[in-house]
Amino acid sequence: MINKIGILTSGGDAPGMNCVVLSAIKAGLKLNKEIYLIKNGYRGLLNKEFIKINKEDIDNTLLSKGGTFIKSARAPEFKQDEIQKQAVKNLNEFGIDALVVIGGDGTYMGAKKLTEKGINCVGIPATIDNDIASTDFTVGFDSALNTCVQAIDNINDSGISLTRSALIEIMGNKCPDLVIYSALATHPDIIITPDFKYDEDKVIEEAKKLAKERGRITILLSERYIDGNKLYNRLLNEVKLDIRYTVLGHIQRGGNASAMERVNATRMAIYAIDLLNKGIGGVAIGIENNKLVHRDIYEALKIERTIKQDLYDEYGVIK
Ligand code: ADP
Ligand code: F6P
Repeated sequence: MINKIGILTSGGDAPGMNCVVLSAIKAGLKLNKEIYLIKNGYRGLLNKEFIKINKEDIDNTLLSKGGTFIKSARAPEFKQDEIQKQAVKNLNEFGIDALVVIGGDGTYMGAKKLTEKGINCVGIPATIDNDIASTDFTVGFDSALNTCVQAIDNINDSGISLTRSALIEIMGNKCPDLVIYSALATHPDIIITPDFKYDEDKVIEEAKKLAKERGRITILLSERYIDGNKLYNRLLNEVKLDIRYTVLGHIQRGGNASAMERVNATRMAIYAIDLLNKGIGGVAIGIENNKLVHRDIYEALKIERTIKQDLYDEYGVIK
């Protein structure tokens, strides 16, 4: 029987994390559990940054707020067995028997290790990248997508007015989902993602042809794939485009959580608390075809991302 549940956010922050935290608090309190917020991700476990939270402390204005009010951290030291044992010792000292951990695949690894050491953990997928294949959508993705789409629309408003082209780099680590979904929403002329082998000469040829036909073009580019500056210079000097290069970067990480983000965040948090209450740990949860699911964390991490060919095909029709 679990009595005290801790909640932490870890790795890169994502809009919607606050909504997960607040929903998990509420679901836990409803089951008469004691709830502890753990500040600064796994580092907070080592520094005993445990804050007991009561119903009257809940601030619903944070439901929409980007970032994570309990703060996150990248704590590479947590990969060490000794450090994990110390974390378990600290949790035992406070009588915290279970954790809701909110983050990406690195965070999942920490959760599995803690579960193996006696602290039941449930992982909730949260990252703007959508690079966790055991769920259709991660918390943070939809909000970041809305930010990307708004930014692309804004750049195009200006570009269309001046007949000026745009090269826009989209954050997402090695995962192209933000690019392909943004493409379906904004209909760019060219997209460049790691799902396909990059041939710069071909891109230059296509850019020449499309610019002639359309006057100006928009290109969306996945971050961390190719040298964006090199491409920009070739578009400027060889294609002779009047063009601006914008890197959206960390703008995508902040901002309010979208409505759908909050719906999914709330559902996943309630499900996580329910699983812990049933004594289930070491699992990652997700939403597949609009249904809440859970599976062993190692199994979840083993699932490989497949190329979303259907989305590329649909993009091919509108580009
Ligand atoms: P994300 O969870 O967004 O993928 P990271 O990869 O930075 O972000 O991981 C977040 C944190 O999870 C790390 O800073 C570290 O504290 C913990 N972590 C990552 N990998 C492991 C691992 N193999 N074992 C234990 N903890 C890990
Ligand atoms: O994983 C989230 C993410 O924002 C990636 O999209 C990006 O590549 C990386 O984190 C940026 O990391 P940092 O915040 O350390 O610059």
